[in-house]
Amino acid sequence: MTAVLFENISELRTVSALGTLANAAIVADDGRIAWIGPTTQAPAADTRINLGGRAVLPGWVDSHTHMLFDGNRAAEFEARMAGQSYAAGGINVTVTATRAATDTRLEQLLHDRINAARAGGTTTLETKTGYGLDVESERRAARIAATGVDDVTFLGAHVTPVGADPDDYVDLVCGDMLDAVAPYVHWIDVFCEQGAFDESQSRKVLQAGRARGLGLRVHGNQLGAGPGVRLACELGAASVDHVNYLDSEDVERLAVSDTVATVLPACDLSTREPFAPARQLLDAGAHVAIASNLNPGTSYTSSMNFCVATAVLQMRLSLDEAITAATRGGAKALRRHDVGGGVDPQGRPAVGTLAVGARCNLHVLNTNHAIDLAYRPGMPLTWGTFIDAVPVR
Ligand code: NIG
Repeated sequence: MTAVLFENISELRTVSALGTLANAAIVADDGRIAWIGPTTQAPAADTRINLGGRAVLPGWVDSHTHMLFDGNRAAEFEARMAGQSYAAGGINVTVTATRAATDTRLEQLLHDRINAARAGGTTTLETKTGYGLDVESERRAARIAATGVDDVTFLGAHVTPVGADPDDYVDLVCGDMLDAVAPYVHWIDVFCEQGAFDESQSRKVLQAGRARGLGLRVHGNQLGAGPGVRLACELGAASVDHVNYLDSEDVERLAVSDTVATVLPACDLSTREPFAPARQLLDAGAHVAIASNLNPGTSYTSSMNFCVATAVLQMRLSLDEAITAATRGGAKALRRHDVGGGVDPQGRPAVGTLAVGARCNLHVLNTNHAIDLAYRPGMPLTWGTFIDAVPVR
């Protein structure tokens, strides 16, 4: 591959030690960032892309999605808007629809959803299994997911399938199901919540995953106070997600741990739960990520622009904090963040930051000021998305 110069950037939000630069340019070599500085001093390159005075930030890192599903739950959503509350049991409706889908249909749905996310500026995606809930359906979901996204998470412990005994099901998740998905997945997750899995079941699932070499993630404290955050911090999970109902001890635990608190603003709106206390978490010193939580039950959107706007307008983050949480924060939640020299903890080129050595994953806005993400919410502000310096929409 040849060197590519992106020039004439009005506002470059690097989410790195370089901060925000005006009238900037980036050079990528073989898809990695090789140089960042003023457009007037940019070195020569084989290809020049004039960005016309637009603002640029790192591509969004969406660290929490559930893309492998068929069907929808529009009626459940409409009932919720009329006053019913969200319950984990609705997941089984999607399990029935997903089991009935052909491989070809699931592959097409995944492909379409990835393209929609990219059209909104997302360049790194995690997705979970969890709508199969039997050995073959979970294996299939993991296998298909691995063909399209960056990180795949095994969420066999999403909910106990209809008719199964909860403890027998946990044994299946920790045994044959884990064996079946292991070749395709990087992470294991558990929905640790009333109506899903309790603390000891969740611990068992996470420990089984760890024994297979998987990293840990937790859905916790979404629908009420509970042990999710405590368990995630104790076991050193990379991320605990939702975190709507936290007591002061949970906030303190997150503040002193390396476990990222991932907030899901679109989900909070759709379930009408109180917003996760992202402001309080940041003030306490916790690592915070913003993700879309794309799924048919609680957050049927992959729009990170919408999530960032909501985090600014409703959760009271500054634009800078929200952009950081949706880029470097998501990268940290996936352990793909820059630990120096533009590489992640495993030595791969990092994502979620624009620094020399990192992947040249760019989100080009159709405006010269990134604040428009919150100032003009809902407007079509994504002009272009580049992964490894190649346009993907
Ligand atoms: O992250 N909370 C658990 N899992 C999903 C919802 C899944 C569903 O209702 O289909 C979530 O919100």
